[in-house]
Amino acid sequence: MRMIAAVMYEQGLPAPYAESSPLKIEEVELEGPGEGEVLVEVKSAGLCHSDLSQVAGLRKRTVPVVMGHEGAGIVREVGRGVTEFRAGDHVVMTVGSGCGHCSFCVNSRPVLCDTVAASRGKGVLTNGARKLRRNGQALFHHSGVSSFAQYAVTVPGTLVKIDPSVPLEIASMFGCAVVTGAGSVFNAAQVRPGQSVAVFGLGGVGLNSVMAAKIAGASTIIGIDLNESKLPLAAELGCTHALSALDPTLVEKVRDLTHGGVDFAFEISGSKAAMTTAIAVTRKGGEVVCVGLGASADLYQYAHTALVSEEKVFRGSLMGSCVPRRDLPLYLRYYQEGRMAVDRLMSGTMGFDQLNANLDLLDRGEVLRQVLLPNG
Ligand SMILES: NC(=O)c1ccc[n+]([C@@H]2O[C@H](COP(=O)([O-])OP(=O)(O)OC[C@H]3O[C@@H](n4cnc5c(N)ncnc54)[C@H](O)[C@@H]3O)[C@@H](O)[C@H]2O)c1
Ligand SMILES: [Zn+2]
Ligand SMILES: [Zn+2]
Repeated sequence: MRMIAAVMYEQGLPAPYAESSPLKIEEVELEGPGEGEVLVEVKSAGLCHSDLSQVAGLRKRTVPVVMGHEGAGIVREVGRGVTEFRAGDHVVMTVGSGCGHCSFCVNSRPVLCDTVAASRGKGVLTNGARKLRRNGQALFHHSGVSSFAQYAVTVPGTLVKIDPSVPLEIASMFGCAVVTGAGSVFNAAQVRPGQSVAVFGLGGVGLNSVMAAKIAGASTIIGIDLNESKLPLAAELGCTHALSALDPTLVEKVRDLTHGGVDFAFEISGSKAAMTTAIAVTRKGGEVVCVGLGASADLYQYAHTALVSEEKVFRGSLMGSCVPRRDLPLYLRYYQEGRMAVDRLMSGTMGFDQLNANLDLLDRGEVLRQVLLPNG
């Protein structure tokens, strides 16, 4: 079939993106679902900071690629052998699935699956297929999802069935922002009632960590952002304190509020400066949970002797260390019960024509999640 999609041919074009137009909005061809594949009509797709980093060239991608790694939509057709989905199912599209049988997958750590990592690197589906072309030229898939398109063909592991009562506009945010932010608290840190946390970066991902920390029963939740406009909503969603990253007394303030430092500091801005502060505000024996991503080649510095003698832990967390079909239904239930106000994170919806200009808004830290509606 033919459809409209956002294709990136080249990384590293300069901002403002409204002028350099790194995402080309084009008609492309999508091959129908083969054996073990599913065709989804994409109803919404969130714009993540990781999309911006890839546009900026911070982390390499195989190009030309149809972008978009979180989405939601309706199954329109299933290929031979697909039994768990049928036409009409509402689904979230996510990147956290694995092959299902390697040692990582069987130990509930599918985000570490080598098969999936290899296919992501090559820009193909996890079954090795490529379903996208334009004028005879093959296009690559983004993380096996490619949701900045009217339709997507993917493998069942990428999809999680959801209740049709969940608005599809909101549902896409569960595919990356929610699963990453909430999972970093529930799966990676495993925050317990009464503990203290600091969240650096109150964007689409970080605010989900704030809401999850509240559900986990954290007694002190300190939100920190460079952009002060992010602080009021953070306080509404669960921060007991919302502080500016520019405050020169930030480290002392956090230590005072928590009698020496937080149990967990979540770095969710991708900034080296935030990582340094996160280490400083973590109590002895506490953990720094690293979620933010900068450039692939970035090296960070820390005082090694202090790490050893204060027994601090650095813990990386990819996609909230999730098992999508275990975790997404739970987070959707929290949303439906009114405990995770994911709808408050949507800054607005957009058509394909606004995609490049809206990369600039995200770049300037002015918005939370902007959601593309590929089919209007
Ligand atoms: N680990 C993963 O699996 C995973 C998944 C999704 C996103 N990410 C990464 O997480 C980060 C956040 O993504 P997002 O979509 O929420 O981005 P976002 O742009 O919505 O939010 C980032 C926030 O960080 C703030 N910030 C920037 N520098 C800061 C500093 N020095 N101190 C405090 N706050 C600062 C910005 O003002 C902004 O509010 C990005 O680096 C993204 O690439 C990682
Ligand atoms: Zn993302
Ligand atoms: Zn696997």
